[in-house]
Amino acid sequence: TSNQMWGGRFAAGPDAIMEAINASIGFDQRMAAQDIAGSRAHAAMLAATGVISDSDAEAIGKGLLTVLSEIEAGTFAFSTALEDIHMNVEARLKEIIGEPAGRLHTGRSRNDQVATDFKLWVRDQFDAAETGLIALIKALLGQAEAGADWVMPGFTHLQTAQPVTWGHHMMAYVEMFGRDLSRVRDARARMNECPLGAAALAGTSFPIDRQMTARALGFDRPAANSLDAVSDRDFALEFLSVASICAMHLSRFAEELVIWSSAQFRFVALSDRFSTGSSIMPQKKNPDAAELIRAKVGRIYGANTALMMVMKGLPLAYSKDMQEDKEQVFDAADNWMLALAAMEGMVRDMTANRDSLAAAAGSGFSTATDLADWLVRVLGLPFREAHHVTGSLVALAESKNCDLPELALSDMHSVHKEITQDVFEVLGVDNSVRSRTSYGGTAPDQVRAQIARWKDAL
Ligand code: ARG
Repeated sequence: TSNQMWGGRFAAGPDAIMEAINASIGFDQRMAAQDIAGSRAHAAMLAATGVISDSDAEAIGKGLLTVLSEIEAGTFAFSTALEDIHMNVEARLKEIIGEPAGRLHTGRSRNDQVATDFKLWVRDQFDAAETGLIALIKALLGQAEAGADWVMPGFTHLQTAQPVTWGHHMMAYVEMFGRDLSRVRDARARMNECPLGAAALAGTSFPIDRQMTARALGFDRPAANSLDAVSDRDFALEFLSVASICAMHLSRFAEELVIWSSAQFRFVALSDRFSTGSSIMPQKKNPDAAELIRAKVGRIYGANTALMMVMKGLPLAYSKDMQEDKEQVFDAADNWMLALAAMEGMVRDMTANRDSLAAAAGSGFSTATDLADWLVRVLGLPFREAHHVTGSLVALAESKNCDLPELALSDMHSVHKEITQDVFEVLGVDNSVRSRTSYGGTAPDQVRAQIARWKDAL
């Protein structure tokens, strides 16, 4: 038998393989609540504009709530023959209320219906991402505040570069996740136009009120071009690209936590709640959450690339290719939210090892730049020469197997005669970080100003 929704011109039903490749109900049932909200707004508008009767609209509205409660209760029997969530809901509505159900699809198509449902779903995920990002930023601010003046090594090439403060390092991630937050808000504002009423692609001859449905569904306005409205998936692509950039930030931080929690670094201790053990090595405490966050970026980039590939080259307006949008976005959203929550928990629970950080901060000739700057400031050497002199002192310390502050003044004089005892003041890591007072620098006062600015902004 042919399809009850569109089978009028068909003599035979679909092949089983056709049904299998065509059906999306296996995954798009996640949009049931959005589909029903959209249909309720549409039915109310059809009544308000006189397209259907008030009593039909009332029956539809009530019936849809019954369908929703069946789906929420898990008693709804989803049918693959009915392809997708839209037709499953409508077919059940017909069973419940009879003839008026057939009037719901007036002036509407599944093309504008699915675009509306999916936008509503993605919009909720933007909101969830905003909440998750704010929570993560607050956890980072907590860490930054506790250790605004704790010294640690700053790295370039993962080689000791210059001392920085723990607070400064935490605040670097606050800036990154802060940009993610602004991208989320930006994309959410841009996507908030309602496709409903674009119908199949050309709009409709019924006197519908698109302002009314847009408002009822919390959109800022109806989408301005019906062809664009049904063929646009930019909102999903922006969601995936914002997610990709954020996942990249999460992955970089996760990598640092993996390194920092190792026995070789001991910069941080992760809590038991966010660590796992080994089934053979009794001593192990592994940073599995950080490793999984580091890996999640792979599937999120994958989803972004997959949907970019699906959309490229599609002629206007709707093509069935676009049904491939949902699983990518669902998977990316689930894993992005999970990664944000896991990172927030890890950051909130972790303990920075102040002593290890300080010990590491002073090793590896981390204050060599301070020494070179001193030669410029006090002895008036050109920076290039100061750089060279300092390099010789580093080589000397290395040959003596000591750090710069442990060199004797006589050792210094063997490289440059005018160096005075004062130089040792700038070789300490605390002095070093306190001296970096330029805007955005690592000095504790600068870090505290950065923290205050963010607390204000949130
Ligand atoms: N299940 C479809 C999707 O996810 C709904 C829209 C179908 N429209 C159509 N004309 N076949 O995209």
